[in-house]
Amino acid sequence: MYYMKLGQVPAKRHTQLLGPKGELRYEQVVTTHGFDHRYACLYHLHPPTRVMEVVERPPQPIELVPQKVKRHVHLRPLGLKPGGDAISGRNPLLANADVTLAICRPTEKMAYFYRPGDCDEIIFIHQGQGTLQTWQGNIPFAEGDYLVIPRGTTYRFDFSGSADPEALARMLVIRTPSMIRLPSRYVNPAGQLRLGAPFYERDIRPPSLLQTHEETGGPWEVRVQTGDQFTGYLFDFHPFDVVGWDGYCYPWAFNIYNYEPLAGRVHLPPPFQQTFQADRFVVCSFCPRMLEDHPQAIKVPYVHSNVDSDEVLYYVNGNFSSRRGIGVSSITLHPSGIPHGPHPGAIEASLKATRTEELAVMVDTFAPLQLTTEALQCDQADYPMSWK
Ligand SMILES: [Fe+2]
Repeated sequence: MYYMKLGQVPAKRHTQLLGPKGELRYEQVVTTHGFDHRYACLYHLHPPTRVMEVVERPPQPIELVPQKVKRHVHLRPLGLKPGGDAISGRNPLLANADVTLAICRPTEKMAYFYRPGDCDEIIFIHQGQGTLQTWQGNIPFAEGDYLVIPRGTTYRFDFSGSADPEALARMLVIRTPSMIRLPSRYVNPAGQLRLGAPFYERDIRPPSLLQTHEETGGPWEVRVQTGDQFTGYLFDFHPFDVVGWDGYCYPWAFNIYNYEPLAGRVHLPPPFQQTFQADRFVVCSFCPRMLEDHPQAIKVPYVHSNVDSDEVLYYVNGNFSSRRGIGVSSITLHPSGIPHGPHPGAIEASLKATRTEELAVMVDTFAPLQLTTEALQCDQADYPMSWK
């Protein structure tokens, strides 16, 4: 990430910032990796430590279900009942110690602010538009946006910008205890995205509008998640009371349609589509693109054994030409060690194609993923036989 500054900050870190009547602003340094990695300095109207009450909130446990066989999995999460808000409505489907994948189709507005206490988040907006309201400013979002939110960020979703307010928002939520970052091979020694990288700083949208809320009274709740536990912190001032901030630690958006996919004479493997890096998993974007142009090229991926990683695909849009029975919002898990590839007839059907319109998000994990109880509710158990 790069240096950002919004609003008022003092000329030097850790010195006084005064309001128009000489009142002191309160600095909060949001640090990561024990003060040694990226950080931001925020300046508040009120001390962010001035909590009125700490209250218990319902936990959201992830119930993993050990599987008796190792097999390919096809989930149809649109079969799950929508509900809750943008946080309580998250249905975890696949998880391991490094990453949790959930689908969320909220039916309620958020009546509180939320702060992920111990995970970074990537939220892919499949359907819906609105504003990600954060203490560092607002980020308008629309379909196709990845919202990247570092732990410690106080935020709230507002979907009121949707063209059809009745249409349910739909999100893929990726959470990790590690730090989400740009793939290091895209970044030059100066920290800038390299020429030839599939996106550029111009495509990254940090908070653009800082609105400082001076309201007092409340109470306003910031709900903090640590593990499965949720704790409500009640304040008598609005949590978005930041007058300015700077640093490298802030939420940002990137639209999947701004990813510039590469195509070769013959098929290029998924690392060419990598978008994000974390510890022990990666996120890739499969975007509409030209197909391979070698005269004998096979236009769909070859059969492959990803022997040491589990491969998850979330199907967003388009015609998923290599797979049978896959629909919008389908999720497939092709676990390590078992080969997978195009369904029968897909290679032949694709030979004359020059473009693909498919849009999908891939998560490749280095450790095996487990299914949750919610996953089993939308599992298409006959999927392993679909290559017959
Ligand atoms: Fe694959």
